[in-house]
This record gives sequence, C-alpha cells and structure tokens, in this order.
Amino acid sequence: QIIHLEDYRPTDFVLERVDLTFELDPKETKVEARLILHRREGVDASAPLVLDGDELVMTGLLLDQEELAATLYDVTDDTLTIRGLPEAAPFEVTITTLLSPETNTKLMGLYRTNSVYCTQCEAEGFRRITYFPDRPDVLAVYTVNIIADKKSAPLLLSNGNYLGGADMGDGRHFAAWFDPHPKPSYLFALVAGDLGVVEDTFTTLSGRDVALKIYVEHGKEPRASYAMDALKRSMKWDEDAFGREYDLDIFMIVAVSDFNMGAMENKGLNVFNDKYVLADPETATDADYANIEAIIAHEYFHNWTGNRITCRDWFQLCLKEGLTVYRDHEFSADMRSRAVKRIAEVRHLKSEQFPEDAGPLAHPVRPTKYREINNFYTTTVYEKGSEVTRMLATILGRDLFKKGMDLYFERHDGQAVTIEDFIACFAEVSGRDLSQFSLWYHQAGTPLVTASGVYDAAKQTFTLSLEQTVPATPGQSAKEPMHIPLRMGLLLEDGAEADLSSVTGADITGDVLHLTERKQTVVFSGITSRPVPSFNRGFSAPINLHIEQSDDDLALIARHESDLFARWQALNAIALANLVSATADVRAGKSVTVERALIDGLIGAAADDTLEPAFRSQALSLPSEADIAREIGADNDPDAIHTARQQVLKAIAVTGRETFLRLADEMASKAAFSPDAESAGRRALRNAALTYLVHGEDNPARAAEAFAAADNMTDLSHALALLAHRFPDAPETAQALATFRKRFADNALVIDKWFAVQATIPGAGTLDRIKTLMTEPLFNGNNPNRVRSLIGSYAFANPTGFNRADGEGYRFLAKQILDIDPRNPQLAARILTSMRSWRSLEDVRAGHARNALKEIVSATKLSADVSDIVERMLKA
Ligand code: ARG
Ligand code: ZN
Repeated sequence: QIIHLEDYRPTDFVLERVDLTFELDPKETKVEARLILHRREGVDASAPLVLDGDELVMTGLLLDQEELAATLYDVTDDTLTIRGLPEAAPFEVTITTLLSPETNTKLMGLYRTNSVYCTQCEAEGFRRITYFPDRPDVLAVYTVNIIADKKSAPLLLSNGNYLGGADMGDGRHFAAWFDPHPKPSYLFALVAGDLGVVEDTFTTLSGRDVALKIYVEHGKEPRASYAMDALKRSMKWDEDAFGREYDLDIFMIVAVSDFNMGAMENKGLNVFNDKYVLADPETATDADYANIEAIIAHEYFHNWTGNRITCRDWFQLCLKEGLTVYRDHEFSADMRSRAVKRIAEVRHLKSEQFPEDAGPLAHPVRPTKYREINNFYTTTVYEKGSEVTRMLATILGRDLFKKGMDLYFERHDGQAVTIEDFIACFAEVSGRDLSQFSLWYHQAGTPLVTASGVYDAAKQTFTLSLEQTVPATPGQSAKEPMHIPLRMGLLLEDGAEADLSSVTGADITGDVLHLTERKQTVVFSGITSRPVPSFNRGFSAPINLHIEQSDDDLALIARHESDLFARWQALNAIALANLVSATADVRAGKSVTVERALIDGLIGAAADDTLEPAFRSQALSLPSEADIAREIGADNDPDAIHTARQQVLKAIAVTGRETFLRLADEMASKAAFSPDAESAGRRALRNAALTYLVHGEDNPARAAEAFAAADNMTDLSHALALLAHRFPDAPETAQALATFRKRFADNALVIDKWFAVQATIPGAGTLDRIKTLMTEPLFNGNNPNRVRSLIGSYAFANPTGFNRADGEGYRFLAKQILDIDPRNPQLAARILTSMRSWRSLEDVRAGHARNALKEIVSATKLSADVSDIVERMLKA
C-alpha cells in the first residue's frame, strides 16, 4: 500500500486531550487510553472515527463510559473503526489494550531493554500502544499515569512536568506526568526501571531554572558527564544563535542499550542509544565524543524544530530533520573548528548521500510517496535536507536567514506545517521568489555542474562556461535547472584574488555566483593575469563539479585559497584523480604512477605548522575505496581499487617518512587526556602519520608498539585497526585482539569497536572471521548495535571483503537479512541498503548481487520495510 502526498487531508475528528494509564508488566502491560474528541466542523455526521493500531489486543472499549455495542465498531489488523458518534458534542473514547513489552523485538512501541521499559514512537510506534489517530498533525495535551512494581521500577518517567506520585501499598507505586504542550503521538515517551542519574541545572535566558537529568545504568554515571556538558552548551547555544529557550521545568535524557536509531527527541524526555551518551577516555574515541556532542545537540534542538513546530505529515520529515541537522552542524562548527567540521560533513555527505542519490533508492528531500515511512529516515532527508537549509542561508545571507527563522518560529509555533510554509517565511522576509530554489526539495539526484574557463589576456577577461544537469532518478526522468549558489574565487599567480564585481552573465553577491540556467556564460572583466578558478568554497552547494584543472592549478588552490575547506577540496581532487588512474593502471596490469603533485601536496600540508593539526590530518587522509568507486561510477572492481590505494599510500609513506616520523613525535601528548577539539586534532594528526609509517614498513612492530603504549581509546582503537587491517594474520594482531577483548569484555560499546575492526579487515577471508564472531558469546543478534557493528560494518565498510568476486558476501547478507527481518524489520531494512550501489559493480559481481536480492524478494514472509527496499533496488 502506497501513501501519496496529494491524498493528504485533515482528520475528521479533533483530538482535544489524552489521558493514559499504564499498568506495567513485562508480559502483560495494561494500557487504558481516554481520548476526548469532537467532530471537525463541516464533517459529515455519519463519518466514523478510524483509529490506527498495530499488533494490539483490545480488552475494553467504552464510549462516554458506556460499553460500546459490537455493531458500532470494527477491528481489523491495523484499524479500529467506531460509528454512531455524536454530531457535534465532544465525546470520550476509552480503550484498553494489553501489550507484551518483553517480546516486542521490533523496538517500536513499548518494549524492554535490559529490564527497563521504554518507548519509541516515531514514526508510527504509538499505534502499537493503543488505537489512536497516529499521525503528526494530531496535536493533543497528554496526562500520563504510570503504575509499576516499586522494586524493579523505582523510576517512572514520561513527558512534561511531574505531577506527583504515591505508594499503592501492594508493592507497586504510581507517578503522574502532565505535558502542557500539545504534541503529536510520535513524541510520546515512557520510561520505567531502575537507573542511575546525573543531575544538573540550567538557567534560561529569561531566568527560569530547568532541572537536567541524564539516566544511565547504575555504575555508568561518570560516563554521562560529557553528555551533560554538551547538553548545557546546546541549551545556551540555541538561545544565543536562534533565540530559542527551553519551555518545561525539567529536561531528561535516558540512555538505553537496545535502540534502532541514534536517539529520539520525545518532548522533555529524550531517549538515546547509549552509544551516544556514554564516554570516558578509556572507552570512547574522539569521534565518539564528537558524535555525542552533535546528537545531544540535535535532539535538544528538536524541541523547537520538530516539537514546538512539527510536521503536517511524514512527507515533511525534512522540515524537522534537515533543519535540525543544519542547526547541529552549526553548533558543532561553533564548538570546534569550522573548516574541519565542514570537511567531515562533506566527506560524510559524499560517502553516504551521494551514492543514495545516484542509485535505485534515490528520492527527493521531500518525497511524494512512500510505502514504509521508516525507510525514509535517510541521509537524503537528513543530510541533503541540511545542505538545502544551508543553501537557503547562503542565498539570503545571515541576517535575512535569521529574520526568516524568527518569522517561522513566531508564525508556526504550536502548528504542524509543510515545507511550503517554511519557505514562505524566507520568501516573505527577503522579497525573493524562491520557487526555483524549492526544486531542491522536489528533484532527486545530485546535480552535475561542468565548468570551463578561457582567459583573454588582451581583453583582460575571463569567460566561464557553466552547464548544469540533474541526472534522472526513479520516477523522475526530466529535470528543471536548479538555483545553485556556488561560492567561488579567482586566484591569481601570486595567491592574490581577482575582484569579481565586474561581471556579466550571472548574479554574484559577495563570492556567491548564482547559477540558475541550464547553460550560463559568465564573463569577468579587469582580470590582469590568467586566474585559477576555485569553485564551491565551503561546499556551498551539494553538487558534483567537473572542471578540467591541472595539478598545478589545484596545487595553487591547495596552497593559497583563503577558504580552508577549498584547500582540502583541491588536495582531495588531486588525490582522487590519481587514485582513479592508479586503479586503471592496476586493472591494466601496469605499475601505478603516483603524481608528484599528490605527494608534495599532502606532505606539504602535513608539515605546515601554521595550519591546525586537525586540518592537516584531514589533508593526509586519502579518499576511501568507496570514494574512488563512486568517482569511477561504473564497472567497479573493488579489489583493483584496494590494490591501487594501498600502493599510493605506500608511495606517500616512503617519500614522507621523515615528516611522518617528526609528526608522530611532535604530536605525542604530554598532558593528561582531554576530549577537546584541539587535543583531538593532535591525536588525529599523529595517528595519520602512524598510518603512513605502518604502511611504509613490512612488519607490525610500530603498530604493536602504538597499541601497547596507548592510554586512551582513540589511540588504542587506531592501533588495533592498523594491526588488523595491515597485518591481519600476524601473531601481534591476534595478541592485540585477544588483549582488547579481555580488557573490555564487560563493555558492550567497546566490544562493538572490536567487532567492527575485524569486520572491516580487507579481503575475501573476512567472511569466515565474521561467521566465527557471530558464535562468540559477546555477540547478540537481537541488539541493533552489535548487529550493526559486525554485519553492518562488513556490508557498509568493507568493499573487498563484502564484494567478494564469488558473491558469497551477498549471499551471507541475504541470509542475515532474512534472519533479522522477522524480529526487527527496521534493522534488517537499514542494513540491506548497503547494497544500494550494486549496479555500479562489474558484471560478475553485479550478477551475484542481483541473485542475492532476488533470493530476498522471493522469500515467503517479508516485512513491508525489507520488501520496499529490495523491490526498489531491483527495479530497473
Ligand atoms: N527523530 C529521530 C532523530 O533524528 C530519529 C527517529 C527515527 N526513528 C525511526 N523509527 N525511524 O533525531
Ligand atoms: Zn532528528
């Protein structure tokens, strides 16, 4: 069944209030839901009330406290329909349902994780708790009563403010919560159990005190202090940057160990995958710290962009997600190095979103149809959605963007709205027609911009020919030209910059060139020497750019651009071109050529003490094998890519040995561990240097030594990966893996790193390792983090291991998907998307991949989640 955007209409009944009472029990939880409703004005008096449900057992149904005659209602697998309701007067429907949280393996609705009751309702989980108008445009005020065993569940939490509680005298107790802010059901949350807490307070801009609580398993409280710090910084930042204040007396975060996604922004009661809360130097890497900071901020920022203003329907998901990702990106940029943060964002966008947009799962940022909404929590909706918001800010400029946001908050507070409502705020404050810009929400596919330039020394003009094309994507063959804001500069020989103000053929504001037509010829005058164009500074537009540029020109950009991101981009372009030609060399049986420009560029950046270490480490980190495959685009042979990349790495290692030795020494930390961005940058640069050194040597001694000397998880896990990936069969590697396992056997989140590092060992032999690891007592096929670490890492992040030429990797994945699907369809569907680029493989592998997908599609009982993904992937 496919849902279409154009079919949207408001509900026939308005929900005024919800009172919920939970009597919690692992096997038989009783839920009583009292809904106060009235018929919407103008709705036919005979229209029935249709509520959503999913796997519910109903044991009671009352209308205004009276039992409802069996002739007046119908129950199907996914609905409860009630007829004969009052024409205009409000009425009350009371529904009793029985749930079994303990056996709820889908982790949607009410479930148990490590003896804690918790909920996940976005997108459509509330209907697994009670029959309900389970859609985001139904906003109501909730009162929640929770009754539970006092001993096993001393803590009873829900949204809003605490009203009170009492002992019930029978070993049970109860608590009542009231959330004054009208909200959709997907923001409902309940947590009950026995947890430890970290507490703090925050005083808002207007002087209101907010109690902050982070709940974690007993004994893990010290590992929540960084999350608490990140939360307070997030609250402050949202006041400073967006004028947004928190609006309840209490803000709670609960960390749970079984969770399908990263975290969830339930009003006043965020629920987190504990991976994104818990950290200390012993067990968390710098990347973990950065993720925690970003996700704590992301969920907190949803309080305004998502909760106070929510989505009219799920097609508008990017309204809250794209915008909130943009906000968390800006937050992290302010907390850390803006340029380095931007490089990391673009790397992530290109490695995750670009392939999605170029493959069978491509869809617009604002889709128009879906079969299973869970499959649209995608990198396109999130990350491309964020880039679209960023472009809006670039086009409007800082002040008008801020004005537009202010208007959005003011006009739509308390509403469920659309992308059109959002855009209208910016059109209004700027007086701009944003209809062409809006195509970014509607047209899927990564635009390709082709550029070429001609310099006329006599006329002192530089003529740019620009052309944009948007590739065809599923369901969209013809595309309109987009409004592409391209930040750029014209660099002159000495590193100076040409003045862009004398221009014809395009609008330029500051350094933003507005590309709006399919083809544009742009002439810059008064250019005194041949310029080197530098495009897409700061990655101002999420596009692919093709321009013939010599290594010398790119090297000039890499040395002289005022925009640090553009410097990295130029180095990356040199590296990517070299890696692509090296791959061709390998496939042709020739020896690999490593360009001087690449070696000099990388080593030069690495050695440049005027640049921050984090940037230098990014400069050193070569494009991944997946990046190279994407650049090649078709007929890919992952083994050839791997070989080529290893050879290039080695050549750089040999030439740069002195530099890398010096950096490994200079960047070694003398001070106590601190997770701040500056210290993390030094660790990153040191580890990048070590990576080269280890690849330039033929024995594992240096990596083993780094492993033994590491005093924090960043260095330890890096050394372990170096050993395992470069010397998989060395005794030193086996030894280190065993040591690591023993030391962290009681910390599942660290063991996930141990699984992931083994799952990503290059080569065909890794599949057997994985099969063995699945029988390991520390593995748990029901825990999403474990499954993602072992099976997900293999399928997403091990190109040579997963894409074995004999197709065994795909057959293994198909088997795992069919095994996971009945328990946890969301998890199965997500992991299956690892095959989204199968068509860009060479024929033999592509054939094996197709067969594995066909095996899945022909299975007898597939979830909607998996069948939606697999069918789209097989569609021509
Ligand atoms: N809204 C959450 C976030 O991005 C993600 C929840 C997704 N849940 C799901 N079942 N698809 O912060
Ligand atoms: Zn979100």
